[in-house]
Amino acid sequence: MADARDRYKSSVQHLPSRIQHMKKILIINGPNLNLLGKREPEIYGTQTFEDYVNKLVERYPKVSLSHFQSNQEGELIDKLQEVGFDYDGIVLNGGAYTHTSIAIADAIGAISTPVVEVHISNVHAREAFRHHSYFSAKCKGVIVGLGLKGYDLALEALLEEE
Ligand code: DQA
Repeated sequence: MADARDRYKSSVQHLPSRIQHMKKILIINGPNLNLLGKREPEIYGTQTFEDYVNKLVERYPKVSLSHFQSNQEGELIDKLQEVGFDYDGIVLNGGAYTHTSIAIADAIGAISTPVVEVHISNVHAREAFRHHSYFSAKCKGVIVGLGLKGYDLALEALLEEE
């Protein structure tokens, strides 16, 4: 009997090719990034992430783009595991967990979906504890210090054909 994955595959095969080839990308934001727009605006800007993501969705109509945010380390790991063998790319801003979480780094290393690490601020121009990332070595690439545009650039990189 076909399992869920086989059933999904055979249902996808019957979709028009336009939809079949729609790439699935997930943006994952870690702790405190739900406060974008009102959190330290001199560092992170005044735009909310919802506004920014809505614009990204409009700009990439051929991409199935979704967004997940959590302040909990385990939820971020669960989400990486959930999508990490199926999606075409993940854009990850792990917030402060970038500098502390071996468990999230292990999750990035465990999955097959490529991950691009993004930081809105230039972490290298800030406190020393922000200079090290447990994630970078496991990621396809890293974008730092270019504001919200970093998510856009990460998306571009993930959409490039290998
Ligand atoms: C951040 C940088 C981190 O050091 C910080 O803890 C954040 C945001 C950034 O996007 O610049 O929460 O990841």
